[in-house]
Amino acid sequence: MFLYLLALLPVWFAYRWFRERKRVPGKEDKYVYITGCDTGFGNLLARRLDQLGFRVIAGCYTDKGEDELKKVTSQRLATVHVDVSDSQSVRKAAAHIETVVGQKGLWAVVNNAGVATPSAPSDWLTIDDFKPMLAVNLTGVIDVTLSVLSLIKKARGRVVNVSSVFGRVTPVSGPYCVSKYGVESFSDGLRLNMAPFGVKVAIIEPGFFKTNVTDRIIVTNNLKMIWSKVPPSVKDDYGHQYLDDLIQSVDVRFQQLLDSDLMKVVGCMEHAIAAVHPRIRYSPGWDAKLFWLPMSYMPTWITDAFFLKCIPKLKIAQL
Ligand SMILES: NC(=O)c1ccc[n+]([C@@H]2O[C@H](COP(=O)([O-])OP(=O)(O)OC[C@H]3O[C@@H](n4cnc5c(N)ncnc54)[C@H](OP(=O)(O)O)[C@@H]3O)[C@@H](O)[C@H]2O)c1
Repeated sequence: MFLYLLALLPVWFAYRWFRERKRVPGKEDKYVYITGCDTGFGNLLARRLDQLGFRVIAGCYTDKGEDELKKVTSQRLATVHVDVSDSQSVRKAAAHIETVVGQKGLWAVVNNAGVATPSAPSDWLTIDDFKPMLAVNLTGVIDVTLSVLSLIKKARGRVVNVSSVFGRVTPVSGPYCVSKYGVESFSDGLRLNMAPFGVKVAIIEPGFFKTNVTDRIIVTNNLKMIWSKVPPSVKDDYGHQYLDDLIQSVDVRFQQLLDSDLMKVVGCMEHAIAAVHPRIRYSPGWDAKLFWLPMSYMPTWITDAFFLKCIPKLKIAQL
């Protein structure tokens, strides 16, 4: 029986490969709204979809990002200023998009904008450290989606949400994993909710890629800044060597895991938008496929034991 199933595997992969090759027609009439197009995946996706002939509406956070993107794209690409953490800005962008897309509706929204700082052990943080990240990574995703959902229903289009492997497994505390787990849950509920309307919802769960959110200097400076505000009693629990050990362990992990080929992620985003049969979840990156995803299916006591081995020793644990 097992051998029969094994023999069917190549047939299944061939069928899936063939099915996933089909692309939607009429790209030139399809509008795609992407948030966070100043840098990283969002920027590359805006350029790629523009090259393919889609009508891209690139949500930019800064004037600089907007100007630089315009220089390298066609006249077809339009930009709109949007701060996803500010509801007024989100609504203003949505009103503008409605006038641009008209009766065609919006083919896809890609909730890509995200931040990864402040990140640190939870007892180094206050609730005011959690709120700004949740406002961008989680409530920003919900707000942007709801602001254009009626336009997407009109086009029987797609919602593409950028989560992370950290939406499946939690090796670090702080707001990042909380926000990405929230994105997963929002997307799963929305997918069921929107299925009768012919709207598809896809989730992108990248592993570690070399962008600003994984920039060593930014991450290190963020840790130093948070440590400087940690109360002395907490610092004493961790020990004064802890910060250096933590920074060193971040360095090692980044060296082991960071992938420079951002097109692996962009290719998945493109597929979610352009394929007739998009996947529900995409896991770009070898670390996502071979390490984080298998970890997410392990019993919690195994993952806890593994992650505890990877973090530096606290002073209090050595007493
Ligand atoms: N890189 C990775 O390893 C990795 C892994 C898993 C998931 N992700 C996710 O991938 C997405 C894209 O990140 P990236 O890696 O491409 O990093 P990135 O280059 O920093 O891109 C994030 C973009 O979001 C923008 N942004 C920040 N705050 C915003 C706000 N309030 N409103 C609108 N835009 C805002 C940033 O603008 P500024 O540059 O002007 O701040 C930037 O252009 C994020 O959701 C991230 O969590 C990344």
